[in-house]
Amino acid sequence: MRINKFLAYSGVCSRRAADELIIEGVVKINGRVCNPGDDVDISSDSVTVKGKLVNVVKKYDYYIMNKPKGYVCTVKDDKGRKTVMDLLPNNNKRLFPVGRLDYDTEGLLILTNDGDLTFKLTHPKNEVPKTYLVKTEKPVSDEDLIKLRNGVYIDGVKTNKCNVRIVETLKSGSKLHVTITEGRNRQVRKMFEAVNNNVDFLKRIKIGDLALSGLNRGEVRALTPREIDYLMNI
Ligand code: URA
Repeated sequence: MRINKFLAYSGVCSRRAADELIIEGVVKINGRVCNPGDDVDISSDSVTVKGKLVNVVKKYDYYIMNKPKGYVCTVKDDKGRKTVMDLLPNNNKRLFPVGRLDYDTEGLLILTNDGDLTFKLTHPKNEVPKTYLVKTEKPVSDEDLIKLRNGVYIDGVKTNKCNVRIVETLKSGSKLHVTITEGRNRQVRKMFEAVNNNVDFLKRIKIGDLALSGLNRGEVRALTPREIDYLMNI
């Protein structure tokens, strides 16, 4: 993590104030005066400001979940359906899901109480890539692949260019990996509807390079500092 960000993350001061301290030469990493662009390994480096050791104070909580189908991505559902909050071990941290997966969609979901990270990951201008495993009802033709990649019209607006590739051809339908940088409502399902197909199974498998890696359906774990850092710099 960049040193100025580390100092802000640790609650020492704002990032701008951290830049000033660094320029003043009062910030040391492992005993050596650091420069503005230096990185800190949160798990092993020791950082001091004016000789005082900086402890990482965790301001926020970050979790990754493998959402099963049959759960809604809200904190409370008006219709009384199960929500992803029901899957958290200890639901007293005012966490909220980052973006939405449909009731019938499964896979990678981040939950946090960090509004800045939520904004960063969900705002369309940031174009954070999200990858889905898709199983379609009917085989996807080469022509449809090209259409999907170049953009199709959903709700009257063309989708951005995206990555679509077939990973397996089944007797009925195709299995594909689809990476989109937008997050429109039911976007992947609607993209396939636009080429006269239907999605039978939908699972988010990655946000950027962050993958579920071994997390079973319904399981949740805290993100590691390295993963948090990755998402903050995505
Ligand atoms: N696209 C969809 O259609 N549904 C989701 O849950 C996510 C992306």
